[in-house]
Amino acid sequence: MQELQSQIFKLKSKEQAAVALPDFPAQKEPTIKIFNIEEEKRMNKFLNKWFRQIHRWIAIPTALLIPVALTIKLIGNPALVTFWEKWDKLPSVFMLFMAITGAYLYLLPYIVKYQRKQKSNAL
Ligand code: HEM
Repeated sequence: MQELQSQIFKLKSKEQAAVALPDFPAQKEPTIKIFNIEEEKRMNKFLNKWFRQIHRWIAIPTALLIPVALTIKLIGNPALVTFWEKWDKLPSVFMLFMAITGAYLYLLPYIVKYQRKQKSNAL
């Protein structure tokens, strides 16, 4: 039984694995959880890639627009200020995107560490 608990079984496809959950009563059949390893990995990689890409590409307009906004306000030309009022929210929206995606990137190493620990505990 001990052996069963600590083993991962290869199933029909190479991508599938099953784990015998450790908390089943000794006299009963074990609960076997089947999960798709490759699918989980792909999903994580997809998210990581897109959060990093969004963070990278939104960084460019953000870095350009913030000094532009500041300069327009400092110069104080009424025509320019009126024109800028329409676009004034844009740097804040970009900053919001940067903060959300940046926070995800910041937490990523901790998320990966946590998931790795959970998986090794499940085995
Ligand atoms: C609250 C705001 C932000 C947070 C929390 C944040 C956080 C992060 C983190 C954690 C990374 C990944 C570093 C690594 O590779 O381990 C990163 C990368 C980066 N950040 Fe930010 N960031 C923020 C705002 C900004 C802003 C305002 C800019 C520029 C306008 C910027 C530009 C970049 C760039 C260019 C990268 C490299 C992306 C890549 O090519 O991988 N970030 N940021």
